[in-house]
Amino acid sequence: MAKTYNISIIKGDGIGPEIVDEAIKVLNAVGQKFDITFDYKEYLMGGIAYDKTGDPLPQETIDGVKNSDACLFGAIGGPKWDNLPREKRPESGLLRFRKNMGVFANLRPAIVYDELADASSLKPEVIKGVDIMVVRELIGGIYFGQPAGKDEQKGWNTMVYSVEEIERIAHVAFKLAMKRDKRVCSIDKANVLDVSQLWRETVEQVAKEYPEVELSHMYVDNAAMQLIANPKQFDVMLTGNIFGDILSDEASMLSGSIGLLPSASTGLDTAVYEPIHGSAPDIAGMGIANPIATISSASMMLRYSLDEIEAANAIDNAIKKAMKDGYRTGDLAAYDCKVKVNCSKMGDIIASNI
Ligand code: IPM
Ligand code: MG
Repeated sequence: MAKTYNISIIKGDGIGPEIVDEAIKVLNAVGQKFDITFDYKEYLMGGIAYDKTGDPLPQETIDGVKNSDACLFGAIGGPKWDNLPREKRPESGLLRFRKNMGVFANLRPAIVYDELADASSLKPEVIKGVDIMVVRELIGGIYFGQPAGKDEQKGWNTMVYSVEEIERIAHVAFKLAMKRDKRVCSIDKANVLDVSQLWRETVEQVAKEYPEVELSHMYVDNAAMQLIANPKQFDVMLTGNIFGDILSDEASMLSGSIGLLPSASTGLDTAVYEPIHGSAPDIAGMGIANPIATISSASMMLRYSLDEIEAANAIDNAIKKAMKDGYRTGDLAAYDCKVKVNCSKMGDIIASNI
């Protein structure tokens, strides 16, 4: 029997609309193949939401996404809105959105496609075969800790984690590790920060429930270095909010292009899937963006929220085939490119590979 899923769509700003359209194209292709119906509803967020409603995160968006099975998200922000007061800026909308949705676990894979090993700034032998999953806590830590503020003389933020917050994100990391190479490296700054000491002790406790998983700890500064020196040593990296923000950008560069990597933000009732790159205002509307990160996010949505594993695999294989066949968008045109394509053509090719 055909299954139907309600998918909320947030295209956002910049290249958001172009890349999301391609992901929808590919979703429709797998829908046809596997007899799945996707019911899409579009909601506003970011700069475009501010322009149309005066609020970067309208209530209708929160309600709509909460009532959907999963959300596919493009990107938000751009120079046009950078000078607005902080609470009107697209980024504030995004943080409020994450908090409202309760999406505490942010999964950011960094994998290297063999054909693109030359695209990385690191040597191919260092990065070939890299397959890392950064599990970043997303709605706590210094991003949201109180007190926070600034006056003329000072600015301050507070890094706070409760045992409960650490436990729930640690469980996500260990569960994922069980399905992967069974290794978790927990990142902290326990040599300096009290909050990190609690983090480390709590992760140790959670680890006892997963005896098959090997747990190690690493200071964040060393982890930044090790990611460049020997990235293959990592399987799952478990981090707090700000350390994960920084390390996931670094990890993404192992793959050569930030245009390739998806992410999932999952919580108790809903999950949001988005490319890890931003809205790229400099190339917005030109039709040259790389839609692969968003298409790959759609695959994560099938895998993690809808449990449509076959369909997810079909998308991953279709992307790999496009890469192997030498189709490249501009960002990767210098690497093993046989046919240079634009955003929509890349979507066509991946859809037809399904
Ligand atoms: C990210 C981004 C956001 C963050 C910004 C846009 C608020 O850098 O998703 O990594 O810092 O979390
Ligand atoms: Mg970031």
